[in-house]
This record gives sequence, C-alpha cells and structure tokens, in this order.
Amino acid sequence: MHLHINPDNAGRTMKNIRPISDEKRPKVYIETYGCQMNVNDSEVILSILQDAGYALTESISDASVILANTCSIRDNAEQRIWGRIEQFRLQKEKRGNVIVGIVGCMAERLKDKLLDSHVVDLVAGPDTYRTLPELIRAITPDSPQINVRLSHEETYADITPVRMDKNGVSAYISIMRGCNNVCSYCIVPYTRGVERSRDPQSIVREAEELFANGYREVNLLGQNVDSYLWKDPVTADRDVNFAQLLEMVAKISPDLRVRFSTSHPKDISDEVIYTMAMYGNICRHIHLPVQSGSNAMLEKMRRKYTREWYLERVRKIRSVMPDCGLTTDIIAGFCGETQQDHLDTLSLMEEAAFDSAFMFQYSERPGTLAARKYPDDVPEAVKTARLNEIIALQNRLSRESNEKEIGKTFRVLAEGISKKNSGELFGRTSSNKVCVFPAGGHKTGDYVEVEVLSCTSATLISKLV
Ligand code: 5AD
Ligand code: SF4
Repeated sequence: MHLHINPDNAGRTMKNIRPISDEKRPKVYIETYGCQMNVNDSEVILSILQDAGYALTESISDASVILANTCSIRDNAEQRIWGRIEQFRLQKEKRGNVIVGIVGCMAERLKDKLLDSHVVDLVAGPDTYRTLPELIRAITPDSPQINVRLSHEETYADITPVRMDKNGVSAYISIMRGCNNVCSYCIVPYTRGVERSRDPQSIVREAEELFANGYREVNLLGQNVDSYLWKDPVTADRDVNFAQLLEMVAKISPDLRVRFSTSHPKDISDEVIYTMAMYGNICRHIHLPVQSGSNAMLEKMRRKYTREWYLERVRKIRSVMPDCGLTTDIIAGFCGETQQDHLDTLSLMEEAAFDSAFMFQYSERPGTLAARKYPDDVPEAVKTARLNEIIALQNRLSRESNEKEIGKTFRVLAEGISKKNSGELFGRTSSNKVCVFPAGGHKTGDYVEVEVLSCTSATLISKLV
C-alpha cells in the first residue's frame, strides 16, 4: 500500500496519524464494480476512512464495515450487486455486528429502496464520501444511514487517493466528475450529477507525487475529458482546457506516461490531437465511443454527431498520428434499431478499423430519456445475435490490427508479471496494446524495448531487443 501525502492536506493527514497499529483499527473491506472512475472513487473512500481510523482488509470475514462501490450502467451490473447483497446477508447472519454499505451509482439511483433488503445499513452516493465516517458512526440496528445528495462543487481535489492496486506503476487521476451530456440511453448524468472540473494544480501535484513515488503512468479520468475546463477565479486568460491540462501533466517528466479517458466524438478538438502529437509521453491511444454507425440511431441516442463527423475525426487522428490506437464502445439493439442500422454499425467498424472495443446489448435504464420516449422494441434474441456479429467482427479487426505489428519494435512499460508464465512480464505499447515478453533482467516499472514475434487478437507476443 502506498500513501501519497498531498502538501495541501499534509496537515490533515499528519494530524490523523494515530499511534495504533493496523491490527487494532476497525477493518473496512471494499468491493468495486463498474468503470475506472469507480476504482478511483474507492481509493478516495479508502483515504477518507483511513484518516478516520480504519484499515483496509482484503478478507471480508475480518471486516467490520463491508462496502460495495456499485455501477448502474446496465441492468446486469445491478443484478450482480443484488446477488452480492444476499451474500452480505450471510456475513451478517454469521457475525452479527457488521455494517453493510452500498455506495456509488446504484446507491444514487435506488436510494432508500436498497434498505428494503434489510441487509444494507448505509447508502451513500458518489458525492457524499466525505461524510462516510459520520454516517458509519451514526448507524444503529434501527437507523440505517443514507446520503445521496449530489453536489455542484465536489471534486475531492484535496484528497490523496490511497492506491489499492499493488502494481505501483500506473494510477488513475480523476480530473472531473459528473456529466452534462444527455445521451438518451445513459444513467450516468442521474447517478453522478452535473459536470465539474478539478483544479489543474491539484491534478499536476497528484501526478508529480505519483511520479516521485515510482509510478510511471497516469490515466486522467473523466466522463467526457474534452469538456474539461477549469475557470480561473480571477482572469479568463488563465482558464485551463483539456489540451492545456494534458500538456501540464506531460511536462512533469518524459518518463511519466500520460493516458486519458473518455473522449467524446463531438468534443475532441484538433488542439487535443496536436498536443498528443507534440509529446512522446502522451500515449498514442484514444478511446472514442461511437455507440452506433447509423445516423438515425445516433440522433435518437442524442449523441450530437453523425457517422460522417465521427469518421472525419478518425481520419484527422490517423493523419496526425498514424500509429494512434483507437478503441470504442458499441451498443447493439437500441430502440427501433433496424437490420440496416445494424449493418451501418458493422460497416463503420470496418472503416474505422478499431483496435478493440467494448460491446454491449442495449439495456433500458429507468428514468432516462430513451426509457421515457422510445419503446425497447428490439427482441432479446435479435439484440444478442447482433451483438455476437459485432463481437465476431471486432475479433477479426483486433487480430488484423495486431498482425500489422509483427516485426515492429515498441517501447513498453512493464506493468507486472505475466499470469501464465512467471518468467515473463506484461505491459502496454503507447497505443494501449498488451505485450508479453521475457523478463530478462527487467522488472515492473521499467521501460523495455520489445519486438513483436506473433499475436492473438488480444496480445502481442514479443522478445527483448
Ligand atoms: N445499455 C447498454 N450499454 C450502455 N452503455 C451506457 N449506457 C448503456 C445502456 N443503457 C455503454 C455505452 C458507454 C459504455 C460505458 O456503456 O457504450 O459508452
Ligand atoms: Fe461508472 Fe457509469 Fe457505472 Fe457509474 S454507472 S459506475 S459512472 S460506468
């Protein structure tokens, strides 16, 4: 476990360092579901709870507080958590005094409905994590605690996340919270509230501390990073947009890689693309969710771009950075999707030649614009069949993309020991492709030159050069 002390909150951290060992502290167990933002939020939660005297445990049966940081993006994400709640019930029956908390997006969406389970003692939305210690203190068997207030300001800028992954090489930094888009299928604006950007100085400081602690990669996170905008309180000349923020972070050190996610096709600017091209340590990878290749679907989804606009952005990216990795998200079977709409998605995938994709079946989310306006009318079997075609096509595209890398050399950041072979390391190319290679004398955190020998659709098999 690495604890990073931010100069801004060093006082607070120092004040709270207690002369008690970890064994004596009450234990918190945290499970994280959903996106990278949730992973980072769990690190913020741990920081807050550590300051309040808790210690992390990886064993649920040692925990006096069990937290699930949850996701609502699709119904199956929520169903999984209902299943976990039943298992938490068993923990409670076995051990009596254990607190079960549901935090994050599902807490925000379902609020007191989660209490109906008679398992959950605590419900806390994504903007309420500072109140967790007092909420936990106030819990009694008869009074569960709930806070789902959304904020216009909270960015947790002064809180130094406590990293839970053990690789010590790559870390998430949240640069903004919430979302102001109104994609008709999407629950996120309802669970995470309005968009707000975090002070760039606090972001740079967090990245500098990570670098000083041995980290070699930061991943700047936002629901829509291209709309990042820090308004200087004094003069608009000092406002900071996303391209400028990228540059500020890239300048920390050429040995600190910078990644970011997620870009929005309607907002990604030439300035961002040129800034990426200017700095070798800004990774050549853009995650640019397209969702559909059909203009009719894009319109209904309220994505605010067309297929043609999207493909123009792809051409622009590829003309400035021919080696740039491009990945996407796709939804199969959105409301009213015809076979022709589906074929348009397949043809766009071919044209864009994505390196990889996250692919989903449409799942209606209560309260969204689509749920209110459009019937969820594509039969389940058709959704599944279309999704399978999309997956099969992407497998071919991913393999073809990887085959083009055979014989090329890449600078890879070693992120860990390969699961399949302890004599091998794995890492990523700048374009975000996973490589495995013999460790030689190298270790996690090193930059290594490798040559690609062969590939699968998911991995580049390489040797040291
Ligand atoms: N149904 C299916 N997929 C969804 N996504 C977002 N909302 C839904 C939904 N209601 C997908 C989108 C988004 C990714 C994070 O999840 O593709 O980019
Ligand atoms: Fe992340 Fe969206 Fe899931 Fe919330 S609903 S955890 S923002 S993916």
